[in-house]
Amino acid sequence: MDSKELRQKFLKFFEEKGHKVIPSASLVPENDPSVLFTTAGMHPLVPYIMGEDHPKGKRLTDSQKCIRTDDIEDVGDRVHHTFFEMLGNWSFGDYFKEDAIKYSYEFLTDKKWLGIDKNKLAVTVFMGDKDAPFDEDSYNIWLSLGIPKERIARLGKKDNWWGPAGETGPCGPDTEMFFWSAKEKAPEKFDPNDDRWTEIWNDVFMQYNKKKDGKFETLKQKNVDTGMGLERMLAVLNGFDDDYRTDLFTPIIKRIEKLSDMEYGEKTDEEYVKEDLQCWVDVRIQFRIIADHVKAAIFAINDGVIPSNKQAGYVTRRLIRRTIVKGHQVGIKENFLADFVEVIQEIYKGIYDLKADLITKELKSEEDKFRKTLQVGLKEFEKVSVKSISGKDAFDLYQNYGFPLEMVEELAKEKKLKVDKKGFEEEFKKHQELSRSASAGMFKGGLADDSEMATKYHTATHLLNAALREVLGDHVEQRGSNINAERLRFDFSHDVKMTDEEKKKVEDLVNGQIANNLPVTKEEMTVEEAKKQGAVGVFGEKYGEKVSVYTITNPTPGVGLKGERVFSREICGGPHVKNTGELGRFKIKKEESSSKGVRRIKAVLE
Ligand code: ALA
Repeated sequence: MDSKELRQKFLKFFEEKGHKVIPSASLVPENDPSVLFTTAGMHPLVPYIMGEDHPKGKRLTDSQKCIRTDDIEDVGDRVHHTFFEMLGNWSFGDYFKEDAIKYSYEFLTDKKWLGIDKNKLAVTVFMGDKDAPFDEDSYNIWLSLGIPKERIARLGKKDNWWGPAGETGPCGPDTEMFFWSAKEKAPEKFDPNDDRWTEIWNDVFMQYNKKKDGKFETLKQKNVDTGMGLERMLAVLNGFDDDYRTDLFTPIIKRIEKLSDMEYGEKTDEEYVKEDLQCWVDVRIQFRIIADHVKAAIFAINDGVIPSNKQAGYVTRRLIRRTIVKGHQVGIKENFLADFVEVIQEIYKGIYDLKADLITKELKSEEDKFRKTLQVGLKEFEKVSVKSISGKDAFDLYQNYGFPLEMVEELAKEKKLKVDKKGFEEEFKKHQELSRSASAGMFKGGLADDSEMATKYHTATHLLNAALREVLGDHVEQRGSNINAERLRFDFSHDVKMTDEEKKKVEDLVNGQIANNLPVTKEEMTVEEAKKQGAVGVFGEKYGEKVSVYTITNPTPGVGLKGERVFSREICGGPHVKNTGELGRFKIKKEESSSKGVRRIKAVLE
């Protein structure tokens, strides 16, 4: 089975069970301050898990693009990826454990679908603790489907609880499905620590909301969130022990073989090790890292995450630079990243459209920049890596040659040397750049602090967007938004620095709407209707046909966009306050350049 067939089968199965198929959301989470990338299928759907109505209903299914960087050190083995797709199905307060588990089981075992031998399946369920009881329901449902009790393991929070992805947010017990992927017969008793059992699917029963104080409150509704890794499942179904053998990777691997004049080989890692060919596996590891990272970088850029020194852009940069170094290690000394744009477009043809020109341009420019210093940087590294690498040297390698800290650490590890990370961070702070520790927290992934403040800032962002268009003109378009409980940040298209007078006008306009206690209303309509009514926001495929539109109406004649009574109308997933009067006083703290043609405002509610 190839990836297109598996993706399609999954979506079709759930469509037949009354789910609406939605397109993958962007890799960049909207209005979620605590993460850099979408890390799971549920991520863009959090508002609906929390109880908002989704315009497409209570049952959804999709294949979501994800980037996770917390396992980046494991990439290079057979199964880890930074970029992957997660197949998922959701119930927002509709069906719960029984149907969720039955659907999973049917899809996995029915001949019409995947037709997996049920004797090769095992599952885990939540054993219970002080926060939530043993998941007896799931246990009994699995038994009723014919999974013997020896094949049902009960595990604790570490294994059978999912979320919140950040500090707070929706979460709950889960039940995971495992497949026996070895050639020998599956043992009767399931041992979750035996890695011949491969995890293939996770059904999460989101019924709790973890609060800031660590307490778990019951959510308004009971939800189902499931996740099946496309790459992994595909490998399992084809009997591969290595995800990089699936059609989602083989064309990339082939291209690396051609460029490096080395071979990935046909055997398993274990077979090569047995033949005393660890060196072969070592090359293979480089191949996998290159294949994984170049794909992740291409998809990141495609969703607007251009390489930079900050936050998500810095992740893209690290992925690219690491790919170049790995390429160097397998003998690729010339620019090669842009070669993969076509290869990857072909793999995902009909599924995702890549902005080939933009990606090619960004990859080329980043590679040019880095190659200029790579050789000298590697020489410099050799010079300074004697007993250990000081913070100052690591920082110089970063500052002068563009070597990200983790790359220095990796190179050092190969020579069994230590890097003074703390010293590096001190140097970094001294240079008043983004502190690496702050961004490290962001790499972990997490979900928006769903506090009241964030909701207020969300509405304030709409007011700001409308006010900017009013004061500066219709060329103003949102280019990015980031909210936390302390402030909002808003990027928008505008060429020049705003004058003090313009800033004051915008503040006054926003505060005027707040003072007027305007209602914030939500309607659902088609994208076409929304456009017709002058809504701004993302019209992309992400929302499917029907979208939520938030409107802030000002009854005073002559106020608002082009003198109409609507002050702001945006396509948006929410959440928002009910009335602008709840917001407090709006103040712009900073207006600065974000990138060429894009300005950035940081503002607070006092
Ligand atoms: N959100 C769940 C996961 O990522 C399904 O595993």
